[in-house]
Amino acid sequence: MPRYQIEGGRPLVGTVTISGAKNAAVAIIPATLLVSGPCRIENVPDISDVHILLEILEKMGAKVTRLPNDTVEIDCTAVTCTEPDPELVRRIRASYYLLGALLGRFGKARVALPGGCNFAPRPIDQHIKGFEALGAQVEETDTYVDAVGPQGLRGGRVNLDVVSVGATINIIIAAALVPGQTIIENAAKEPHIVDLANFLNTMGARISGAGTDVIKIRGVKALRGGFYSIIPDQIEAGTYMAAVAAVGGNVLVKNVIPKHMDCISAKLREMGARVTEYDDAIRVEKVRRLRRATVKTMPYPGFPTDMQGQIGVCMALAEGVSRITESIYETRFFAYSEEFRAMGATIQVAGKTATITGTERLHGATVQAHDLRAGAALVIAGLAAQGETFVENIHYIERGYENLVGKLTALGACIRRVEDE
Ligand code: EPZ
Repeated sequence: MPRYQIEGGRPLVGTVTISGAKNAAVAIIPATLLVSGPCRIENVPDISDVHILLEILEKMGAKVTRLPNDTVEIDCTAVTCTEPDPELVRRIRASYYLLGALLGRFGKARVALPGGCNFAPRPIDQHIKGFEALGAQVEETDTYVDAVGPQGLRGGRVNLDVVSVGATINIIIAAALVPGQTIIENAAKEPHIVDLANFLNTMGARISGAGTDVIKIRGVKALRGGFYSIIPDQIEAGTYMAAVAAVGGNVLVKNVIPKHMDCISAKLREMGARVTEYDDAIRVEKVRRLRRATVKTMPYPGFPTDMQGQIGVCMALAEGVSRITESIYETRFFAYSEEFRAMGATIQVAGKTATITGTERLHGATVQAHDLRAGAALVIAGLAAQGETFVENIHYIERGYENLVGKLTALGACIRRVEDE
């Protein structure tokens, strides 16, 4: 099995360019099922979650053309299949968006339950609530979800019981072609939701309010092909920013939307890093040992749960006692706390809160990635640690970080992807 071999202790210096947002791409790609004609999409990250989604669409009859510079052309006009390959569907989380897309286009879908990072129970009851508000009948078994709109779907109103990124996206996708108006209340506000709405609107949809907690979708008869460029990845950018703060150095993080980074920039500044914003870039510089901090993860615009582990490494190396309270996925600490300890960190987890007592130095160890973001946190820890670290289970990391090894190497890190005989 491939793994990363890291020799820690080298500062990160130079420029890194952020790729397109994973969580926008994995929503936009299934949404192309709604479109008649080719969609040319730029800034599609070259990561395994995207590869799998494209393969799913191809197997369903879509024409997928991979072009240079992270550009993909997808034409789903010829698709008639409403049951995507279950083996592929089970390999990623975002395959649940195929439900909304197929239901919206064909009025029926049979999709295997999604896989992906399993750091916590991840129910889809709010997705189903949304589909039912559109008039669908949905049956969920242990392995499949079947959704059908026997009388045809119509616009409806849904008030989400929890702020869910996935449910908000799935309902937008399902409703874009459905006659009448759909209203989502208590919607999530993440940048990738706005990006999905912008993509669909570019193709002719009528979606307003994305980025606020009330989203209105006025169904249109058809969407037509066009060109779209995906936003930069907030979490990839945040990961490099946290890496510089933890490891040391001075890096210009290019191709970011600084506004999306506000919460992360503010926290790193509070901890003592120097963070300078430009129009579409952010410079992070470590000028002193980091200070302790408290973080509470929240839906956007709060501090993202997907940055919990990465800021955790900063805290593990900071002066004093820091705290993280996780309010989205309570069990997420367990994806990395044991591994952090193996590298010399002091971290205690009690319910929703982790208490991290900073140390001057972490040491190398062999550790396992248990999910994408926890894996990224272990890479940062390895870069900051003294000695050699092996990060195993890197298929999780390669789900969501384009060319991580190449980008870090260009910043001066000593990291290699090695495969044992
Ligand atoms: C998305 O997951 C992201 N994934 C996750 O990123 C991210 O951690 C999460 O949002 C929170 O920001 C994708 O976009 C593909 P949610 P999602 O629905 O949509 C509860 C990464 O590493 N809930 O916003 O699945 C749920 O249990 C991944 O890039 C229900 O109760 O998350 C959680 O507590 C990991 N019922 C909360 O809502 C539902 O039907 C938020 O989950 C749906 C969710």
